[in-house]
Amino acid sequence: MANVTVAALRERAPGERRVALVPEAVTLLHRAGIDVLVETGAGSGAWFADADYTDAGATVVPPDELYLRADVVLCVGPPDQETARALRAGQTLIGLLEPLRQPALVQDLYRRGVHTVSLDLLPRTLSRAQSMDALTSQANVAGYKAALLAADSYDRFFPMLTTAAGTMRPAQVLVLGAGVAGLQAIATARRLGAVVSAYDVRPESRGEVESLGARFLDVRSPQGDAGQGGYARELTPEEQQAQRAALEAHIARSDVVITTAQVPGRRPPLLVSAAVLERMQSGAVVVDLGASDLGGNVEGSEPDKTQVLDNGVTVIGAGRLPSAMATAASTAYARNLVALLRHLVRDGELVLDPADEITGALMGGGQS
Ligand code: NAI
Repeated sequence: MANVTVAALRERAPGERRVALVPEAVTLLHRAGIDVLVETGAGSGAWFADADYTDAGATVVPPDELYLRADVVLCVGPPDQETARALRAGQTLIGLLEPLRQPALVQDLYRRGVHTVSLDLLPRTLSRAQSMDALTSQANVAGYKAALLAADSYDRFFPMLTTAAGTMRPAQVLVLGAGVAGLQAIATARRLGAVVSAYDVRPESRGEVESLGARFLDVRSPQGDAGQGGYARELTPEEQQAQRAALEAHIARSDVVITTAQVPGRRPPLLVSAAVLERMQSGAVVVDLGASDLGGNVEGSEPDKTQVLDNGVTVIGAGRLPSAMATAASTAYARNLVALLRHLVRDGELVLDPADEITGALMGGGQS
């Protein structure tokens, strides 16, 4: 019986340095009886040379050969059009395919008989799928990096320092949205010595915030804001406005604000208006993790763009932060893929069973 062959693509999105498989993952897949191809140069952005993959047991191949031989093609972000066109019926594409943001890609592949497994559709509440949760692993990296970016742009210390020249007060950091990225931003800012407070619409996040040594802000929570599948629901415009007004005083007082609020598949809630940015002190820094072409949590923020406003407030629209820590992010992502492939490959065969709780959810995007 022939083994299943999986293949890691070289990412083609501008600025993307991550890779779907790292050498340690190749070794683990081999042990599970899975053959691995890696596109030439795929790991170079994350500091893995072709020889590292070969040493781990992979075969490094040019794209044409990869498309010909692979049963399963692995990527990080959605592939470009040329790559999507090269896939053929019967092949399976696995990655963070963003089916909610750009449904046309998965729908087109589905029509052409290419199976799609979108890691972004994994229900976070399934505990046996936690090891496959790539959105979580990448958001963790992003939250960490967001706190470092903020500290780097902030022209004072994060910790309280007592020196011969006197005492420096610690930075007051506010994190809005205490999901995966937010909690990691809180933990990282705390490790750097800042005084951290945080807010989330989900009241149950209070315990997690406090366990990291941060203060949970008592902004009145709208009733019944719990959504489905472990995510928040989108607030009504009236609820959003009431919440924003209550938060504004806290934001205006903060030295650093890191925003990470999201409701999947929706435009990110606007939490920091231009008016409140104007009220902030000169030298304050705002990092908007959710900045995207859909808008972000901060009015006027744009992905990959740092703006210094007239009042001396710096607004950083985060770009693809996990890509800025490509080695750690790729290693975590590859572990998610290994866990998923162990689930999908049984007795040497790829089993895409729509009735399976995990597989069915991940294949949902292409068939709607
Ligand atoms: P998550 O779903 O774990 O957390 C989002 C949190 O926002 C939830 O706890 C939710 O309750 C909260 N929230 C929703 N509406 C809110 C509101 N109106 N006020 C306060 N909190 C609210 O999401 P995760 O994985 O932590 O991602 C957070 C954000 O970071 C997303 O926008 C995501 O796209 C972005 N992200 C950005 C990356 C980058 O490189 N720039 C990488 C990874 C994630």
